[in-house]
Amino acid sequence: MPATLSTTPTAFVTDLVSRFALSEEDFDRAYAEHDAYAELLDNVTRLGVAASAGDADAQFAQQYLLAKIYGLHTQLGAEPTAEASTVLHAVTRQLERDTARDEDAWIDESIYASIPDDPERFVPWLKNMTREHRVFKHPYYHSFLRERATPEDFRSFVLQESSVDARFDDLLAMMQVGSDGETKMEIAKNFWDEMGNGDPAMVHTTLFGRIIAHFGITDDELKESLSTEALLGGNLPVLICRYRNLFGEAVGHLAVAEWLAPDRFSQVLHGWERLGLPADGITYHRLHIGIDAHHASAWFAHVVKPMAAEPQTRRAMVRGALWRLNSSCRYLDRILAQNPA
Ligand SMILES: [Fe+2]
Ligand SMILES: [Fe+2]
Repeated sequence: MPATLSTTPTAFVTDLVSRFALSEEDFDRAYAEHDAYAELLDNVTRLGVAASAGDADAQFAQQYLLAKIYGLHTQLGAEPTAEASTVLHAVTRQLERDTARDEDAWIDESIYASIPDDPERFVPWLKNMTREHRVFKHPYYHSFLRERATPEDFRSFVLQESSVDARFDDLLAMMQVGSDGETKMEIAKNFWDEMGNGDPAMVHTTLFGRIIAHFGITDDELKESLSTEALLGGNLPVLICRYRNLFGEAVGHLAVAEWLAPDRFSQVLHGWERLGLPADGITYHRLHIGIDAHHASAWFAHVVKPMAAEPQTRRAMVRGALWRLNSSCRYLDRILAQNPA
């Protein structure tokens, strides 16, 4: 197998994505020849190798491609797509395995040995690990957004955040499949909060959509202007919510995301008010300061703690939490590096 792609990462991915408008049968037929199929998967493998080695174009192309594939699985449309193609599934699994391997490589394996055996001690340990992580009270929130970000900076903040905030309710819906009892009830309460507790005007994705509209962010920007880190931040939760055997990871991921959210939203709100940005954003951010504090404590008490009884689940929750903390940290570091004090 040659060491590099048969074309540039961008050209390869652009060509492949253009075929997503084929029906699943036509997509599979395009790769029915053994050579075409082998070349496709070789290219995906090489993309993963280049991304792991730190090639920025390959990292972007890899996460862009995965986001486009997830779009096929999470967005409704009238036209046929390659969503159910078996060939595309092989591509997806390669991308997912590569993404998971790279995310695992950011984890210091020794952390797993320090997970307490006593389930009672797990939640305090997880919170402490999060508190000691470099992303905790990250200067992007505590200094940049709070004190010096311009309206243009907030516009790009909102654009990049769209990879998660614009469809958070669907993530919860995907996550709840197969759960039951207290866990499903907790997800249901979370989901209902996302639905504005039945008030259409207060549905969180609707509120977020108004912020998007205020900044004049176009559909094209939402589709084509996300950074590698923002794409990854959107892809990781989809990855862990769509596979039942990653449920532990999803629980850990959500736990730390919700737990960090109120403090982050407080900093956003401070900057938002400093600049006199529109009231819709104030509603959205203030709402989350209260709601997410509640979500986090209920999630820790009713889901994380009971699930901590099993050693392999404790490990999975830590893995999912670290995927979130590490990827969020790289994401924030990158933006801060582009906006030096
Ligand atoms: Fe929300
Ligand atoms: Fe929440």
